[in-house]
Amino acid sequence: MSGVEGLVAVVTGGGSGIGRACGEAFLAGGARVAALDLDPSGAPAGALAVVADVADSAALDRAMATAADAHGGIDVLVNSAGISAVGPVEANGDDEWQRVLDVNVVGVARASRAALPYLRRSAAGAIVNLSSIAATAGLVQRALYSASKGAVHALTLAMAADLVGEGIRVNCVAPGTVDTPWVARLLSNVEDPAGEKARLAARQPTGRLVAAAEVAAAVVYLSSRSAGGVTGTALPVDGGMSGLRLPPRPRA
Ligand SMILES: NC(=O)c1ccc[n+]([C@@H]2O[C@H](COP(=O)([O-])OP(=O)(O)OC[C@H]3O[C@@H](n4cnc5c(N)ncnc54)[C@H](O)[C@@H]3O)[C@@H](O)[C@H]2O)c1
Repeated sequence: MSGVEGLVAVVTGGGSGIGRACGEAFLAGGARVAALDLDPSGAPAGALAVVADVADSAALDRAMATAADAHGGIDVLVNSAGISAVGPVEANGDDEWQRVLDVNVVGVARASRAALPYLRRSAAGAIVNLSSIAATAGLVQRALYSASKGAVHALTLAMAADLVGEGIRVNCVAPGTVDTPWVARLLSNVEDPAGEKARLAARQPTGRLVAAAEVAAAVVYLSSRSAGGVTGTALPVDGGMSGLRLPPRPRA
């Protein structure tokens, strides 16, 4: 039993990468899925694909209503839509700071606000946000992105406190580097993509990138009835990156 049988899950960013993998995992577990995305054409077969921008409150209200009408309510919201930012603190101008925080942080608040009227009617209401290892570990060249994911982590805890009395659980997952189109795009912009991919893999104690399906399995667990006692947590899915301190490997 997956613990999500019969539930309705709305996944922002459901057209690609981790969001798409979440849609697949929910469907495999017997849930119904609505994938909200700027471009939902990559949503898994069997999901309701809905065009929506998490920077647009009115569009999100319409998208949640469409999902609830089609599937008979909403039990789970997964906030996976997000965008990247690269560089140290002086690299990004005000416009980019506002854009990334607007999508990565305010987008989570907007989608949650739009979904809450439906989650309140569910007997199994849950929200799972996509944070990152970048929220709690200092990573080079990720100042703005890390700030956005630190805010997602903090927002997760505050929302969990506010909603626990209503029976709605709020958690986040904190992935390491995951093999998705996002990372493929990042790699395509560096001088030595193969070397950079090998360095990212080596940074994780497992020695490889995390698979999107592995993150999705954690999201499905946190969304499931089996996790009824779990709220206000951040679950790392990072190949051991946050918790392990291995001895340095001898240089060849
Ligand atoms: N890939 C990683 O290594 C990694 C690691 C940690 C956390 N994350 C987080 O996981 C989430 C998903 O990342 P991914 O790797 O699957 O990326 P991805 O680029 O493959 O997918 C992101 C999806 O979000 C959509 N999106 C972007 N802006 C949107 C907007 N304004 N409104 C609606 N949809 C929008 C995109 O169209 C895309 O389909 C992000 O929040 C990211 O920060 C990713």
